[in-house]
Amino acid sequence: MNDLVIVGHGGLAKEVAFLVEEINRQQPAWRLLGFITDRPDCVGQRQGDYPIMDTDEGLLRRTQDCAVAVAIGQPAALRVVHERLRPNPRLSFPNLIHPDVSGDWARIQLGAGNIALNGATFTTAIRLGSFNQFNPGATVSHDCVLGSYNLVSPGANLCGAVALEDEVFVGAGAVVMQGLRVARGAVIGAGAVVVREITEAGTYVGVPARKL
Ligand SMILES: CC(C)(COP(=O)(O)OP(=O)(O)OC[C@H]1O[C@@H](n2cnc3c(N)ncnc32)[C@H](O)[C@@H]1OP(=O)(O)O)[C@@H](O)C(=O)NCCC(=O)NCCS
Repeated sequence: MNDLVIVGHGGLAKEVAFLVEEINRQQPAWRLLGFITDRPDCVGQRQGDYPIMDTDEGLLRRTQDCAVAVAIGQPAALRVVHERLRPNPRLSFPNLIHPDVSGDWARIQLGAGNIALNGATFTTAIRLGSFNQFNPGATVSHDCVLGSYNLVSPGANLCGAVALEDEVFVGAGAVVMQGLRVARGAVIGAGAVVVREITEAGTYVGVPARKL
């Protein structure tokens, strides 16, 4: 069993703790030490069954090997936290995939630090960078290519050959239609249907999705 901490202690962090427990239920892999906060006043409190054990400053100074799951639901913040922790060679960022997530894993390329919660679905010939998050019911179809720090909310669908650059937020139940590219930093509102390429950052809502 390897030590693992979860950065964050909000709702997503609770879900990632559940994910780790589910992975362990299938095959013991991780000793979940607790949550990491950016608020020193929270250290020592508990979140459910686990302590809020340290600050990100403390994690940065850690001298023992430790796996890290970054459970923050904002793409840009995901990148900032990763870049902050990366200098510590003791820290590693495993891909954490719920055991019930289906996918043609032999034909899916994964970087590091990706998180897929229960009920996400992948098909085949997919390339994922690092630190992407997939929530329950998110689907990622054939030939999708994702950069890093993207967040795909519950029930959102990426149709075939969609390309998300980096730091894209796809809201709950949104659809990105086949073959479309979405530019870095775009925010796609809940329930939006993206029918045209998104070429610049901004917030896009509605059916068809239009820039706010
Ligand atoms: C799109 C979104 C990011 C916009 O948030 P915001 O910038 O704070 O925008 P506001 O709430 O001020 O809304 C601005 C306008 O857009 C409209 N709007 C907001 N979200 C919308 C949506 N998803 N679809 C259609 N219209 C939307 C509002 O009604 C408002 O319209 P108005 O100016 O005519 O009154 C947000 O509403 C959203 O959909 N977030 C996704 C939430 C989600 O999926 N969470 C999952 C977490 S796992």
